[in-house]
Amino acid sequence: MRVLLTGKNGQLGSCLQDLITNTSHDLFAFDSSELDITNQEEVVKITNVVKPNVIINAAAYTAVDQAELECDQAYAVNEFGVKYLAEQASVLDIPLFHVSTDYVFDGLNVEPYQPSSKTEPQGVYGQSKLAGEKVIASTLDKYIILRTAWVFSEYGNNFVKTMLRLANEKDELSVVSDQYGNPTYAKDLARSIVQLCDQYNSKGVLEWGVYHYTGDISTSWHGFARAILFKANKLNLIDKMPKLTPISSESFPTAVKRPAYSILDNSDLKRLNISNSSWLSALDIVLSKLP
Ligand SMILES: NC(=O)c1ccc[n+]([C@@H]2O[C@H](COP(=O)([O-])OP(=O)(O)OC[C@H]3O[C@@H](n4cnc5c(N)ncnc54)[C@H](OP(=O)(O)O)[C@@H]3O)[C@@H](O)[C@H]2O)c1
Repeated sequence: MRVLLTGKNGQLGSCLQDLITNTSHDLFAFDSSELDITNQEEVVKITNVVKPNVIINAAAYTAVDQAELECDQAYAVNEFGVKYLAEQASVLDIPLFHVSTDYVFDGLNVEPYQPSSKTEPQGVYGQSKLAGEKVIASTLDKYIILRTAWVFSEYGNNFVKTMLRLANEKDELSVVSDQYGNPTYAKDLARSIVQLCDQYNSKGVLEWGVYHYTGDISTSWHGFARAILFKANKLNLIDKMPKLTPISSESFPTAVKRPAYSILDNSDLKRLNISNSSWLSALDIVLSKLP
């Protein structure tokens, strides 16, 4: 298959490149300077030249707090850029594989969010991502949207790298312990997308729609930090084990209130033989790849 990938240098984009390069698929991957998805002419031109069999969109505006100040830019990428990709997928009659976020929910649930659960984003980032989901659903029949959360990898900026940096700078770290979610390794998310592309390639069809894909075990940011620091200390990636103090969200204010509860139910994907990943084992892999 000819696979067109946008946002090739992000966490997910980099992992997708690693995986697809080792398959029989022909990969046509673009970063934002080569294909800016907010530029409709560019989207039309490049998709018409590449003539892909599938489009995978790993491009997104992901700066959650900054989005409150750059609302237009967040919507330009997460709604309008996605719209241009969906329109071209429709013209070419090919599927679009897209990724969304737990931030489309209000975070007030007490049980895992289903793909069909009521959406209620709390900030511009989540609202713009939800607008992207809606524009895909209204433009295309053949699409997969995977909502994910707490993404980490050896690439880009993420919580794992932040914890390692802070551990080498400070003797004590205070980390929020009243927000719950599932850390997700970007390469496992990428693998699930490739598996879905392969299923489409072999069957010519998929159960299109919105799914949830996250790591297997729920924890708090404090629990995630504890696992990172424990493993990093064993691998001598940090000079010493800092004191790790649990704090409440209230004592760590951010521009956008983070969801207290971000746990997403993955059962629908399991029906498609896609199992969610063990993020603790993935953490070993990521830590072993960091300098
Ligand atoms: N990271 C998380 O914790 C998390 C959680 C839930 C959901 N998600 C979703 O998962 C997906 C992947 O996230 P990620 O962590 O891989 O994000 P990321 O590392 O921030 O990568 C996003 C990529 O999008 C590119 N991009 C931005 N604007 C673009 C444009 N106009 N045209 C083309 N490319 C553009 C960026 O390129 P430049 O750097 O060149 O601008 C960057 O390479 C996103 O849809 C995100 O919303 C992420």
